[in-house]
Amino acid sequence: MSNTTWTRHHILSLADFTTAEYDTVLQTAASFQEVLSRRTKKVPTLQGQVVANLFFEPSTRTRSSFELAAKRLSADTLNFASATSSITKGETILDTAKTYLAMGTDIMVIRHREAGVPVAIAQEMDRLGVKVSVLNAGDGQHEHPSQALLDLFTICTLLDPDLPRVELLKEKKIAIVGDILHSRVARSNIWSLTASGAHVHLAAPPTLLPKLFLDYANDKPGKLFLHWELEPALQDADFVMTLRLQKERMSAHLLPSLREYHQMFGMTHSRLQLCQPGVKVLHPGPVNRGVEISSEVMDDPEFSLIQSQVTSGVAVRMALLYLLGSGKA
Ligand code: NCD
Repeated sequence: MSNTTWTRHHILSLADFTTAEYDTVLQTAASFQEVLSRRTKKVPTLQGQVVANLFFEPSTRTRSSFELAAKRLSADTLNFASATSSITKGETILDTAKTYLAMGTDIMVIRHREAGVPVAIAQEMDRLGVKVSVLNAGDGQHEHPSQALLDLFTICTLLDPDLPRVELLKEKKIAIVGDILHSRVARSNIWSLTASGAHVHLAAPPTLLPKLFLDYANDKPGKLFLHWELEPALQDADFVMTLRLQKERMSAHLLPSLREYHQMFGMTHSRLQLCQPGVKVLHPGPVNRGVEISSEVMDDPEFSLIQSQVTSGVAVRMALLYLLGSGKA
């Protein structure tokens, strides 16, 4: 397992990730995928290191898969959930992070509902001169790098199971459909997919897809297109990413009704006829069945990659923890 190209100390955003870094993540994750298919699924790579999962916002799959990834690498794990923590007694986020530092944490995996919290903690760790790495597990509407990396891995391993690599995405058409305005998953995916040379077509009602997205990623090899209706985004698409309507982040009445949204933008079998034959559908979860995607598409193994995204998540997060952790031993 080679990580000679890896110099990054924190993973906070994909905006400046290089194709060499993407390929390192993909190939490292492929090795761990192989480990996960063995009878003994554990390796001693991070023995003696401490991984703290600091989740200040609810999560099912991201938190569980970081925890499992850390355990499969033989790290010791600390799990924090803000509802049962001293945050409820008024402790600040930075003081919480310093508490975990004092216990010898090597890697902090951080999710917070405000954009910028992982960056602020990383800056504080650097200021203190400690070697702790920070991994952004989703901050507000900003970014969710590990989700976009597992999406990339899911797509690339489908295209070449033996050697997943970004060049496989060159000139592919990928539609991202749904609540783009509130989605950190969309923002991270825009960086990784356009850097890989894929053409990304965003589709949503205008209230959920402001024009400012046009300024995104214009220095990347893949192009970005905006559509306020679904059909042109789906036409001949190779992959379709659907996104949850993030009702908890909607401040105003941005949609007439969920039923109308499903009629206009919901992913159904008949809509997928517009895409390339063999099109695959992704969704980061959690899913609102019957809103952004029909139950039939979601449960159809011919189209849906949703379960393999979750499975890939463990191998990709093992790769990220390994790449950050292996320099610390
Ligand atoms: C996403 C998130 O939390 O950003 N889910 C995830 O991490 N798998 C998307 C969402 O909440 O809709």
